[in-house]
Amino acid sequence: MFATSLVLAAIGSVLSVEALTIAEINGNKFLSPYSGQTVTNVTGLITAKSSAGIFLRSTTPDDDPRTSESIYVYSSTVGTNLTVGDIISLDGKVSEYRSTATYLYLTELGSPKNVKVLSSGNAVTPLVIGEDTGLPPTSQYTSLDGGDIFAVPNGVANISSVNPVLDPTSYGLDFWESLSGELVTIKNVTIIARPNSYRESWIAGGWPASGRNAHGGLTMSAKDPDANPETLMVGTPLDGTKNPTTSKMGDKAADVMGIVYQQFGFYYILPVTALTVTAPASAAAPPVSFTSKGNCKGVTIGDYNVENMAPTPLSHINAVASHVANALKTPDLMFIQEIQDNTGPTDDGVVDANKTLTALVAAIKTASNVTYSFVDIDPVNDLDGGQPGGNIRQAYIYRPEVVSLYNPNPGSSTDANEVLPGPALKFNPGRIDPANSAWTVSRKPLVAAWKAKGAKKPFFTVNVHWSSKGGGTSYEGDVRPPVNGALDARQAQAEVTSDFIAQILAEDPSARVIASGDFNEFSFVQPIETFTAKTGLTDLDEVVGRPIEERYTYLFDMNTQALDHMFVSPALAANTKGYEHIHVNSWAAPKGVVSDHDPSVALLNVCGC
Ligand SMILES: *[C@@H]1O[C@H](CO)[C@@H](O)[C@H](O)[C@H]1NC(C)=O
Ligand SMILES: *[C@@H]1O[C@H](CO)[C@@H](O)[C@H](O)[C@H]1NC(C)=O
Ligand SMILES: *[C@@H]1O[C@H](CO)[C@@H](O)[C@H](O)[C@H]1NC(C)=O
Ligand SMILES: *[C@@H]1O[C@H](CO)[C@@H](O)[C@H](O)[C@H]1NC(C)=O
Ligand SMILES: *[C@@H]1O[C@H](CO)[C@@H](O)[C@H](O)[C@H]1NC(C)=O
Ligand SMILES: *[C@@H]1O[C@H](CO)[C@@H](O)[C@H](O)[C@H]1NC(C)=O
Repeated sequence: MFATSLVLAAIGSVLSVEALTIAEINGNKFLSPYSGQTVTNVTGLITAKSSAGIFLRSTTPDDDPRTSESIYVYSSTVGTNLTVGDIISLDGKVSEYRSTATYLYLTELGSPKNVKVLSSGNAVTPLVIGEDTGLPPTSQYTSLDGGDIFAVPNGVANISSVNPVLDPTSYGLDFWESLSGELVTIKNVTIIARPNSYRESWIAGGWPASGRNAHGGLTMSAKDPDANPETLMVGTPLDGTKNPTTSKMGDKAADVMGIVYQQFGFYYILPVTALTVTAPASAAAPPVSFTSKGNCKGVTIGDYNVENMAPTPLSHINAVASHVANALKTPDLMFIQEIQDNTGPTDDGVVDANKTLTALVAAIKTASNVTYSFVDIDPVNDLDGGQPGGNIRQAYIYRPEVVSLYNPNPGSSTDANEVLPGPALKFNPGRIDPANSAWTVSRKPLVAAWKAKGAKKPFFTVNVHWSSKGGGTSYEGDVRPPVNGALDARQAQAEVTSDFIAQILAEDPSARVIASGDFNEFSFVQPIETFTAKTGLTDLDEVVGRPIEERYTYLFDMNTQALDHMFVSPALAANTKGYEHIHVNSWAAPKGVVSDHDPSVALLNVCGC
């Protein structure tokens, strides 16, 4: 018996398999149980054609919501004499395709043979998502995330190894996989992110969605946690038309009919024809609602990652200056990240950025008639990461009639700042522990102490730009939980940054400390949790009670999200008058984008009396 079944299994793997339904070929998991095998007389209705194949829907569906009733037949010639609405039978080889090892696979039929048209002119009706199907799950992506897509450690399992049975009512990836290859219609479409350079943009249908912000995007949060799998990327139209390049977050679009498809690490809808915007959202983000009081009772503090600002192009500097002047209303002090050296990305040993900063403050002066001073510390050439040769660094610009450096004593690139009794800073400004390995190929925090007009005591600022998430894997990828790129670096940076701030507050628990910048991390993920626990600082979004959906400064894939934060010590939390994220970039269409980050502004009483 044993020997016989072994022989049969061996034969089964080389012989072709007859009379399978498309649902049987797909199976109820991510990967087909017939991968690598030839299947004969597969029968289905052609629902759509692409330049590289056809999509077949079963004429003998089952009633299992886990098994897709459709499949992609991959061949540039198979569709030549076939028409949407034909019912055909064919033979083919089942395969699983992906272009990169960290992506999910697409199940497809290759090498089609014996194509027979059984009938033509049959009706082709898309399934309406949410009406003819279940509703897309709104928070979890897969059972393999253990309930938390942001869990540490991550990258502990691969969907393609475990190949779990699909649970389309609970998990977003399972939901879309259960419709792989299917012709669907999405109604009541909102565009949730501007298109990428391939004119592909993320959408959500009118189904219940979590995390919806007031502008129409979907914001991720710690709740559940919510990373918004109820979304699809709209790919290149099947009919050769082109998606718009001017679409943006919050635009309403006409119903999208197309094929659910897996490519490039995401679930897509390949629309039959181009996406059409029916009601564009406004890209005109309201400016900050408050202004400075001109003294310590109400100092405005801005934060802005200005994305690789070099002396040229001047158009970039002018666009940022216009934001500072008009959207941020010329804050008294600004934390800035990504100022490049005087020769920008040319890797020539130049590290000084005074031309860049002089050009920025001159442009702000032109735009607002406000005169800023600036201060920064050059990195050691090529040691702080970012665009090669650019030597990005943090800087402060400030209005000296309201705030000025308190006992200035600038540190060098390699000087490690220290907290002295008082508290006071050994170097003002100075960098935190530049030799610490936590900062390898990354930006050292720029610490300063400031005197505000009318204040009795200084306040302290820590301008951070932690390591980016580059090298991570997609939320819709194979690797679970997805790899959070450079997590270990940010964790080490959180420890070092926290230790310094904790020393200031150990000297004086009522010290006024502001830590702000591009943390490259969400407030509910380990490095920031460590940071707030060790420093006792509070996120200003918490202090002002901003709704969770409105906490965003960045658009990435399907999510609006907060990588930029402003944290304050208890003495300032109790004296916060306002804090706003100004969505000049996340609401913009591609042409209007000045930086990949939105700026923020706070209004704080820093008097310390
Ligand atoms: C192919 O399948 C159809 C049903 O889909 C069936 O009627 C037909 O007999 C099959 N042909 C062969 C050669 O098995
Ligand atoms: C399409 O039909 C034409 C005419 O019958 C035939 O010559 C050609 O080989 C067919 N092409 C394919 C890909 O079946
Ligand atoms: C997951 O797949 C990737 C890419 O093939 C591989 O590098 C990694 O080791 C796998 N991880 C696990 C936990 O199997
Ligand atoms: C679309 O919107 C209409 C009107 O608001 C509503 O009646 C309908 O249920 C929605 N359908 C879907 C699938 O979201
Ligand atoms: C930049 O600094 C150098 C050296 O101190 C100085 O010679 C130059 O004039 C400065 N450039 C600007 C634009 O301020
Ligand atoms: C610009 O600012 C200067 C100095 O603060 C002031 O004297 C001048 O009147 C201002 N000009 C305009 C056009 O507001």
